[in-house]
Amino acid sequence: MSRRERSYRNSEEREQRRTGSKKYKINWVRLGIFILLVLLVVFLSVKCISGCVSKGDSSDPSKGRVKENIADPSTIELKGDEPPAGNDRSIRGIPELKDVLTYDDGDLLALVNKYHGVTRDYKPENMVEVDMSMAAWDGIYIKKEAYDAYAEMFNDAAAQGYTLCVCSGYRTYEYQQELFLQNLESQGEEYTHMFSAYPGRSEHHTGLAIDITSPSMDWALSQDFAEYPEGQWLDEHCQDYGFILRYPKGKEDITGYGYEPWHFRYVGKDVAKEIMSKGITFEEYLGEA
Ligand code: DAL
Ligand code: ZN
Repeated sequence: MSRRERSYRNSEEREQRRTGSKKYKINWVRLGIFILLVLLVVFLSVKCISGCVSKGDSSDPSKGRVKENIADPSTIELKGDEPPAGNDRSIRGIPELKDVLTYDDGDLLALVNKYHGVTRDYKPENMVEVDMSMAAWDGIYIKKEAYDAYAEMFNDAAAQGYTLCVCSGYRTYEYQQELFLQNLESQGEEYTHMFSAYPGRSEHHTGLAIDITSPSMDWALSQDFAEYPEGQWLDEHCQDYGFILRYPKGKEDITGYGYEPWHFRYVGKDVAKEIMSKGITFEEYLGEA
């Protein structure tokens, strides 16, 4: 055997020894990996079991998912274009949107309801703050056209002995979300869907809607307003100033909301007179019923 061959054999043997010892090490590594995998499987199983148990706990009706979410409104993401449940024309649900308004083009007849929304950042143009003498508190804004009409209505009502008072005007998406969640928490789902718009679907977001009450009502919003002098005066005269009673009694299945004798929408005098004299809803007037 030549030196070269010997040297080759030696190196071959060295390699075999080296490889052999390496194989021995690889087995340990594999064993280690195996143990780690077993530990991981055990850990995941324990976690799954404890997860299932806590899920079971939360099925307690007093800890419903809705209730958990509304504890802190900022923890729930309500997306106007992704309602949690779709259904047909119903005052109890949040149906799929047909379209959304992205900006204020000045259209006084813009329809906003359960099917027609506004984008989260929709902002009405030309808004003014309602003077404190005609409002329940400061910081209530509405569009100028609606403001001028309301001021005229307020003054005429006052001259006849009726005291009107705006307690809600323009609402942002976030504010409407807060109201919706507060209602869910305090009044429950059925009431909320009847009297509170989902964020991005409230007419208040247009700056063309106002809630009106009176000191005689203690500034409260209630269906009793229809029996109070101011509520009756408004029902009779609102159209002369360009307002309509937006959610009339008996039309709940068309408007999608319960009777709200306090909620008025500015549409301009001609349209308001036509709607109120015919006893129809805004949806019917627009052919959207
Ligand atoms: N109360 C009406 C429906 C609103 O929340 O806009
Ligand atoms: Zn309202």
